[in-house]
Amino acid sequence: MDVISNPLTIFSQLDYLRREGKRIGIVPTMGALHEGHLSLVRHAKQACDISVATIFVNPSQFGPNEDYQRYPRTLESDLQALDSVGCDFVFTPTMEAIYPSGYSTYVEPPRVAERWEGAYRPGHFRGVATIVLKLFMLVPAQVAYFGRKDYQQVAVISAMVRDLGVPIRIEACETIRDPDGLAMSSRNRYLSESERVRALSLSHALHRAQMMLDAGHRSPSELEQGMRDVLLSAPVDSIDYAVVVDPETLDPIESIQRDAVALIAARVGTTRLIDNRTLVRRT
Ligand code: PAF
Repeated sequence: MDVISNPLTIFSQLDYLRREGKRIGIVPTMGALHEGHLSLVRHAKQACDISVATIFVNPSQFGPNEDYQRYPRTLESDLQALDSVGCDFVFTPTMEAIYPSGYSTYVEPPRVAERWEGAYRPGHFRGVATIVLKLFMLVPAQVAYFGRKDYQQVAVISAMVRDLGVPIRIEACETIRDPDGLAMSSRNRYLSESERVRALSLSHALHRAQMMLDAGHRSPSELEQGMRDVLLSAPVDSIDYAVVVDPETLDPIESIQRDAVALIAARVGTTRLIDNRTLVRRT
């Protein structure tokens, strides 16, 4: 496994391999890797000749009161984990390489970025879109792998790639969960034992939404109330949103006439967690 921090070096090595006819898959990460990230690398390895993980804790996607400073930085164990799954290249750019002094260019994110995370974390998707576009330019991959756990992030990146004509395919891969249902997240390591138990209410609430849909409820607000009831009985400490929306635009819907998506953001202790579930209309 080659670990490279120089942008010119990674670009020229991968550009050479691409010209040789190799298919390259990129897995952008902020490190603090867990099984969810490693499963993305496995997807890349399965479908591509060369797998590339990137590790960069991107300051521009954190708000002023968010956890940028305390975000876990675990480079050594991340590299071991990537090596263990056979990742070919790891790109670990420095801050100066990505945001040189005087840096002032940002991507204006697409419309699908406006609600939910976009509203609760102003500037977040501007930072995400900017770093992801930069990574796509430095790592000439044909396919990029993202986890569905960040449902809106995948929608934002897919729309950006479509709108700007970036020549890369976005693959959304299933959320990897602990056996009890908790969606894997680098932020789960902030949770105490008792908070982790309360955090299970996110996946339970999403399950409740699907049960209600299966039972014939078609009103998003009824399902939303059902999810809130589960979250508040845990209890979580606060709910940013628990909504049932259109799976493509992420706009609110009047009634569930086809598949929809349930999105939740809630705080347990000081940890903000997100999760989602595609609600399948079976009847
Ligand atoms: O999902 C993440 O870890 C980050 O938002 C990403 C896509 C690596 C951009 O910094």
